[in-house]
Amino acid sequence: MSTLKRILVRKDTSCKSIWFMRQAGRYLPEFRKIRKKNRNFIDLCFNSKLSSRITLQPIKRFDLDSAIIFSDILIVPHALGQNVKFLKNKGPVLSEFNYDIFKKNKRKEFTKKLLPVYKAIKTTRKKLNKKKSLISFVGAPWTLYVYMFGLKNKGKINNYKFKKKNEIISKITDYLCLHISNQMKAGADVVQIFDSWAGLIPNKHLKQYCYIPNRRIVAFCKKKKMPVICFPKGIKKRYLDFNEFVKPDGLNIDYEIDPKWAKKNLRNTSIQGGMDPKVLLGSKKRILKEAKRYMDVFKNVPYIFNLGHGLLPKTRPEKLDMLIKFIREHK
Ligand code: CP3
Repeated sequence: MSTLKRILVRKDTSCKSIWFMRQAGRYLPEFRKIRKKNRNFIDLCFNSKLSSRITLQPIKRFDLDSAIIFSDILIVPHALGQNVKFLKNKGPVLSEFNYDIFKKNKRKEFTKKLLPVYKAIKTTRKKLNKKKSLISFVGAPWTLYVYMFGLKNKGKINNYKFKKKNEIISKITDYLCLHISNQMKAGADVVQIFDSWAGLIPNKHLKQYCYIPNRRIVAFCKKKKMPVICFPKGIKKRYLDFNEFVKPDGLNIDYEIDPKWAKKNLRNTSIQGGMDPKVLLGSKKRILKEAKRYMDVFKNVPYIFNLGHGLLPKTRPEKLDMLIKFIREHK
């Protein structure tokens, strides 16, 4: 069993496990080299050979326990019929949501469109050491909804009172379960659900748009015996309610969460991450001090080392290497 699964499933505190969100990405020169020749990001996600190669880049360089498949949460809206473009300095832009197109989606076609992702998982699994996990992921329904309706860019977050909102979120959830099941069949052995925009939901609606959809997906994963990690970023002390309602195998904390508070309040789960990725842009001394803070707090609980959000493009790979070596040696 991989160290990641030992911590997630058996709540083993005798081993360490390290991986990073966005460990395959722009901070790596070898990724930038491929990216330069492949200007269309979505096309790159659908290139099985290259996406498998990119997935393995950080594994070759660093002492990591898990690979996360190189893909994106937005390939799901793409497969459901919305055009997705990544504009430089603007982030992702989706074509206008069309309810009729959305409604006509079929599970078989959806799977067919995403076959290159599953092929990349298959290829990567064969090349990856058996002791390492291959992590698959999905965006949570709310976070995908935010992108599908451009709620962030247009500054109209209150406009989510779209008439068919509940029906749409429920349908997105069905497709996410299918995507997880397909990734699992291809060889992924853990899944992470990214609810990156959970922090935009007013407290009184958190249950409806964040906890309930996450719980549905977690229940699906449990039925399939697929260990699942949730990341409801930005919900502050509501992490406590989230954990008790959703009951995931693992919970990634963001950098606003006090690790001591997390240790005390987030029970019956494995905690992952927490350290602010911006710290990695600072001095060696600061990096090691922060890493030590997390490692000391989470000493006798099931803890997976990671960050409170993805690695930033300006991170120097040497600093990451130093951090990993420090974690390995920490007692
Ligand atoms: O973590 C990994 O290494 C695996 C691959 C991965 C990517 N995106 C590749 C990527 C994962 C797990 C994601 C998740 C993702 N994608 C999230 C959830 C996590 C988070 O960051 O909150 C979100 C919200 C997205 C949507 C997305 N994709 C945005 C907003 C952007 C542009 C801004 C940015 O952060 O780069 C992307 C592009 C993207 N996805 C890149 C990579 C490596 C950069 C593409 C480039 O080269 O320009």
